[in-house]
Amino acid sequence: MTPTPAEESPTPTVPVTPYEQFGGEPFFTALVAAFYERVAHDPILRPMYPETDLGPAQRRLTMFLEQYWGGPHTYDDERGHPRLRMRHAPYPIDSIARDRWLTLMHDAMVEQGMPEDDERLLWQYLVGAAFGMQNIPDDAPPANAIDVTEVRP
Ligand code: HEM
Repeated sequence: MTPTPAEESPTPTVPVTPYEQFGGEPFFTALVAAFYERVAHDPILRPMYPETDLGPAQRRLTMFLEQYWGGPHTYDDERGHPRLRMRHAPYPIDSIARDRWLTLMHDAMVEQGMPEDDERLLWQYLVGAAFGMQNIPDDAPPANAIDVTEVRP
């Protein structure tokens, strides 16, 4: 007897990673490309990048985000453990740089036209990550402040 649909063994559901849900490799490539198009013309962020060619940096961020959201582990394979705070230590990231990074990333993200829930999930992560990367606290003395320990009476 032919089983009715209800009797058939259910199709196993494969959990979808956010990587797949967001749109996989084409999504992350487009997101980070849109971000770096903005970085290329940004007076605060562009000078922070040591390389003339932003292409390699663009690729590293793409690989990292793909891996973070459940995609291929190419970042780890090529770069090792991310240790992102340590890797950002050479770059002075104050709240102005942080907020500029977030603004450009926000514009790049909105351009992708994601469903609202996905956009909220991605944005919450990006905000947390960017705040975590700030390495010059808001209450740090300005770079040109006088070092009082050097002042002779
Ligand atoms: C808060 C403001 C930020 C600034 C100003 C900033 C700036 C930079 C700069 C100048 C580099 C060096 C370019 C390179 O060689 O790749 C870099 C690398 C990188 N950044 Fe950021 N970044 C920020 C936040 C973030 C956030 C939030 C993430 C992750 C969500 C991130 C992920 C990366 C990655 C994956 C690399 C490459 C690390 C490597 O493998 O060497 N950055 N960033």
